[in-house]
Amino acid sequence: MSASFEIESSTGPYTVHVESGAFSRWLAAFGKSAVISDAFFTSRFEEAGAKATFVVAAETNKSLEASPGIIETMRKGGANRQTHLVAVGGGITQDLSAFIASVYMRGLKWTYVPTTVLAMVDSCIGGKSSINVGPYKNLVGTFHSPEVVLVDPEFIRTLPADQQASGLIEAVKICFCRGNESFEKHLATEPAVDMPAVQLEALIVNSLLSKKWFIEIDEFDNKERLLLNFGHTFGHAMEGASHFAIMHGIGVGLGIQCAVAFQELRGVSYDGAPKVAKLKAHLRQMIGSDQTAVAELKKLNLDDVLDRVASDKKHGADFYALILIAPDGGVVLEKLPKTPETLAMVGKAIERVVESWA
Ligand SMILES: NC(=O)c1ccc[n+]([C@@H]2O[C@H](COP(=O)([O-])OP(=O)(O)OC[C@H]3O[C@@H](n4cnc5c(N)ncnc54)[C@H](O)[C@@H]3O)[C@@H](O)[C@H]2O)c1
Repeated sequence: MSASFEIESSTGPYTVHVESGAFSRWLAAFGKSAVISDAFFTSRFEEAGAKATFVVAAETNKSLEASPGIIETMRKGGANRQTHLVAVGGGITQDLSAFIASVYMRGLKWTYVPTTVLAMVDSCIGGKSSINVGPYKNLVGTFHSPEVVLVDPEFIRTLPADQQASGLIEAVKICFCRGNESFEKHLATEPAVDMPAVQLEALIVNSLLSKKWFIEIDEFDNKERLLLNFGHTFGHAMEGASHFAIMHGIGVGLGIQCAVAFQELRGVSYDGAPKVAKLKAHLRQMIGSDQTAVAELKKLNLDDVLDRVASDKKHGADFYALILIAPDGGVVLEKLPKTPETLAMVGKAIERVVESWA
C-alpha cells in the first residue's frame, strides 16, 4: 500500500509520498545529492555506499553554531544553487536541514525523509524550521517547504517505545482538532507502540491529511493553525519543569488532560460530545505506556509548572490564551482574564491531572 498527495503552500505545491520500504529503495540514489542525516543511520548509508553529512540529533546541534560547519562541508563538496538537499532524520535533523536549505545560496530545493513518528505524522509538513539560540528553544526560524516528503513507516522498527508514544499523541491531537471523522479514523487504526506498518501507514496518512487542512487554510499561524497548539501551554510547562525528562508528545498528552480538567472545573459538560470521553480513555492508555514519564510527573514541582503556564509567550498583556474543548467537542482558543481566580483554576487543573496518575 502507498499514498501520495500534494500540499499547497505559498511557494507552490509539494508532494508527500507514504510507502513502507521506500527509504531502502531510494537510499543509493540519495548519494547523488547533498545529504544531511541523523548519525543514527550512518551504517545504513555506509552499507549502501551512499555519502552523507551526519549530525547527532541533539538540541545543541539544532543551533546557529552547528550550521556553519555543515554549510562549509556542503560548499567544499561542490553544492551550488542547483543542488538538491536530502535530509534524513527526526525533527532535530529536519529543523537544522530546513534552516540550511532556506539560507544556503538563498535557498535550495530539498527532500525530507522523516524517521520518527512525530516527524512522520506531524512536523514533516508545514514548512517550518526552528533553531535554538543559547538557552532559547526555537527562537529563530524560517518557512521553507521541501519539494518532496518521503515517509517510510518502517523506520518505526528501531524507534524506542517512548518516542513512538510521544509521536502517536501528536497524531491524535491533530485528528481530534480536525473533527469527529478524522478522530474516529485515527482510533480505527488502533494506535499503539509497535503497531503493524500497514496500520501505521493509514494512521500517518490520516494525520497528515488532517494537518493539511490547517496548514493550507492558515499557513503562517494566524488563526486556524493556532488550534494545533492544543495541549501545548500546559504540556510545554510540564516538559520544562521536568527538565525534558517528559518527552514533548507525552507533555502534550498531559497538557490536553489539563485542558479537559480546566473545563470540567469551570462546569463545562461534554455530555453531547462522546468524542471527549474517547479522547480521555485513549490518552490514559498512551501516556500510561511511558512509565518513565509517569514517574517524572510525580516528581514535578507544581508551582514551577504553574509559573511556566502563566509566562507562556502566547498570552496577551491582560489575558491568558488557552486552547480548550467547547461543550460540543470542538476546539477553541479562549482568552481568559488575567486574574488570580483564573490562575488558581489553572493550578487546580494541573493538580487534578497529576493526582490522577498518583
Ligand atoms: N519544524 C517543525 O514543524 C517541528 C514540529 C515539531 C517538533 N519539531 C522539533 O523536533 C524536535 C524533536 O524531533 P523528534 O521527536 O522527531 O526526534 P529527534 O530528531 O529529536 O530524535 C530523537 C531521537 O531519536 C533518534 N532517532 C531518530 N529516528 C530514529 C529511528 N528511526 N530509530 C531509532 N532512533 C531514531 C535520534 O537519533 C534521537 O536520538 C524538537 O527539536 C522539536 O522542536 C519541529
